[in-house]
Amino acid sequence: MKEKLKTLLNEKRYLHSIGVCETAVRLAEIYGADKEKAYVAGLLHDCAKNLSYEDAVQKCALLGVELDEVERSCPSLIHAPLGAKIAQTEFGVTDSEITSAIRCHTVGKAHMSLLDKIVYIADMIEPSRDFADVDMLRYLAETNLDKALLWTLDFTVTKMVKKGLLLHPNTVYARNQLIKNTL
Ligand SMILES: [Fe+2]
Ligand SMILES: [Fe+2]
Repeated sequence: MKEKLKTLLNEKRYLHSIGVCETAVRLAEIYGADKEKAYVAGLLHDCAKNLSYEDAVQKCALLGVELDEVERSCPSLIHAPLGAKIAQTEFGVTDSEITSAIRCHTVGKAHMSLLDKIVYIADMIEPSRDFADVDMLRYLAETNLDKALLWTLDFTVTKMVKKGLLLHPNTVYARNQLIKNTL
């Protein structure tokens, strides 16, 4: 899998994928999720990230990946649903928990599974990530996964609003549901 992935990604993205993979396995260990699934989902989550916008859209049409309105207008979101499909068709991943975690690693969704949450957060805290609160988030991720998820969703929403970009409805659903659960 690693050899094949190397042919699809540039070096920086490949090293990021290894970082997400290892971080996801560590979180799976802490929270009792399936480590093998965390490994595969973490490793492959960005497998479609290095495709150009044109190639990604073309591949979606070819593989029957339906994009919603927001995904179509934000090129950076397409790699998640397309990556889930490529994991199936090119890497032989048949497990729906793994493809779900890849599919929702960028915008989240309501009722995320433990594996979905692990991969979503591992993507934010893997060792090469460097932003002001990353060490706080790393600590939070290892002590309270839902709080780490809520922090990350808040961070993402704030960033998108500041940049004047579209919010994906699934990010709002994920955040609302998480807040409702903790009220
Ligand atoms: Fe990604
Ligand atoms: Fe990523």
